[in-house]
Amino acid sequence: MTLTVYAPATIANLSVGFDLLGAAIASIDGSCLGDRLSVSRSATGISLVCSGPWSHKLPDDPTQNIVYQCAQNFLERLPEPRQCGLDLKLEKNLPVGSGLGSSASSVVAAFYALNELFERPFSDERLLLLMGEFEGRVSGSVHYDNVAPCFLGGMRLLLQSPSSFCASIPYFKDWYWVVAYPGTSLSTAKMRALLPQEYSRSDMISYGRFLSGFIHASYRNDRALAAAMFKDIVAEPYRSPHIPGYEAAKLALAETGVMASGISGSGPTMFAVTDDLVVAQKAALWLKNNYISEPGGFAHVCQITDTGACVKQIQDTAL
Ligand code: HSE
Repeated sequence: MTLTVYAPATIANLSVGFDLLGAAIASIDGSCLGDRLSVSRSATGISLVCSGPWSHKLPDDPTQNIVYQCAQNFLERLPEPRQCGLDLKLEKNLPVGSGLGSSASSVVAAFYALNELFERPFSDERLLLLMGEFEGRVSGSVHYDNVAPCFLGGMRLLLQSPSSFCASIPYFKDWYWVVAYPGTSLSTAKMRALLPQEYSRSDMISYGRFLSGFIHASYRNDRALAAAMFKDIVAEPYRSPHIPGYEAAKLALAETGVMASGISGSGPTMFAVTDDLVVAQKAALWLKNNYISEPGGFAHVCQITDTGACVKQIQDTAL
């Protein structure tokens, strides 16, 4: 049997929830914004073949590929280790180091696909912990704000308490999230190293106010309040000077009428949010014309999607 899965792009942090909040997104025009992975069992060893628009950015040595490492780890952790190998085919559709949860998409696709192939030996929570651990290997620290929404869909708040690891938060279904990737890459580890080790008490209070205010507004369905809460205290002031064109784009986007804009994950992708499709398209056009600096850059009008990792195809290869 060959199983093909899809794992969507994500916007982590959403300005207000550094390392704690993220959302799975889908382009409204159906453009593929997520990695696909096909897995099947083989007699022995692990083989990995990569294709797709961003496969040329992956390591040449397959053993250095995070998907390969996830597969190796998955086999080792199986409750009853089995003598078998795996054939993996990764279609790398998300640019590496983009801020769209590219590594999370590959990691989630790998663990989700293998868990399905082996008839679910691990619970969702166990899988999520594994996904966070592997995402941490790529980005330098364990955080779940990409892997959780990528795996489970929707908008997710990480509570990491024994009774609730990750909560689903209601989101505004008619909001458009414009994402623009300029075509350049940034290392998450380096973007994290730019952040201060400590924050002032007033920053801490503001951070708490904006995050709790945004979550409160989401539950109250108060879109004006939610929009007013989009302030990034933790990352934007320290990261934005290192993202070429970001500050000019933020000012120009405000002119287009969007409610707010911010850094998607650790950048360089920007997001802008609005409830007006015409404004979203205007913002996307501005970003296409002005924010994209390298071939391969793109801008898409997206919405949050409830569909996280999902099976796209099951082929009976014995036939
Ligand atoms: N919360 C993470 C960060 C997301 O901003 O560093 C990037 O993977």
